[in-house]
Amino acid sequence: GSLQPLNSDCVTLTRFVLSEQKRAPHATGELTQLFGTVGQKNVQGEEVKKLDILANELFINMLSSSYTVALLISEENETVVEVETEKRGKYIVAFDPLDGSSNIDCLVSIGSIFAIMKKEDNSIPSLKDALKPGNTVVAAGYALYGSATMMVISLGTGVHGFMLDPSIGEFILTDRNLRVPPRGKIYSINEGYTHIWDDAIKEYIQKKKDPKQGKPYNARYVGSMVADVHRTFKYGGIFIYPATKESPNGKLRLLYECIPMAYLMTQAGGLASNGKISILDVQPEELHQRSPIFLGSKEDVEEVLEIIKKHS
Ligand code: AHG
Ligand code: MN
Ligand code: MN
Ligand code: MN
Repeated sequence: GSLQPLNSDCVTLTRFVLSEQKRAPHATGELTQLFGTVGQKNVQGEEVKKLDILANELFINMLSSSYTVALLISEENETVVEVETEKRGKYIVAFDPLDGSSNIDCLVSIGSIFAIMKKEDNSIPSLKDALKPGNTVVAAGYALYGSATMMVISLGTGVHGFMLDPSIGEFILTDRNLRVPPRGKIYSINEGYTHIWDDAIKEYIQKKKDPKQGKPYNARYVGSMVADVHRTFKYGGIFIYPATKESPNGKLRLLYECIPMAYLMTQAGGLASNGKISILDVQPEELHQRSPIFLGSKEDVEEVLEIIKKHS
């Protein structure tokens, strides 16, 4: 059959970020350029490397050569990565280059997560620039490498989803202004840790299964945060990685997993809490500190917070 004409007026990620930035009079276009570089791929991997390391090297190379970043925070780097002076820009990027590593070999969806902050002054970039609360984030997003490749981002004006069209190598806007449903029917938590949960978590999950307390929820747990959170955006419900007796701060890292996902969820009308306060209000003390996280539909998160409060 005849080739479908390419509707060249579709909204691509680059065009979207440019249009969003146009509304900001002081814009220098650096943020646009920053997103542009993250989107482009030029794999250099000469030897086959662990995907975590390869992804990390790619992120560091692409971000450093975008001339828009002063400081990088990565799950795979023990300390902050200062961009060399002549390549320095005004942004700070905290990222998880490859999320869900345990799922790589079985081909279950994995992803990448990032949050972008602005460096407030012209001092030498240092750790103090990295330890900023999530309410200072200017943009955040994730890429989901699933049955399709999708980027979900926010620049502070709502959350938008872009599907990669491999035939043209562009991310096309497919979900403008994603909103998370006020309540869902899915709970997402690793029940293998039930024996070391606090009583409040045991009570909440028990309630989700008890037909005497309402229609039981469905259990869904992928084990890649990006996949579990993306499903929560699309279908609603709650994603929980709680503190346990063995991990008093849970497992997920505040700077490059909890904060970006909390920023996005909040922008989409959902909630994200550490069990006591909003994730976005937590003042980071250490680069790789962990945080419990209760994230998703507003009413579902409020319900578990009520039970936590009752037990405190
Ligand atoms: P990463 O692969 O970046 O280290 O992250 C893995 C995280 C996150 O993706 C997921 O939600 C969580 O680990 C799953 O942990 P459990 O296997 O303990 O449930
Ligand atoms: Mn991760
Ligand atoms: Mn990771
Ligand atoms: Mn890891």
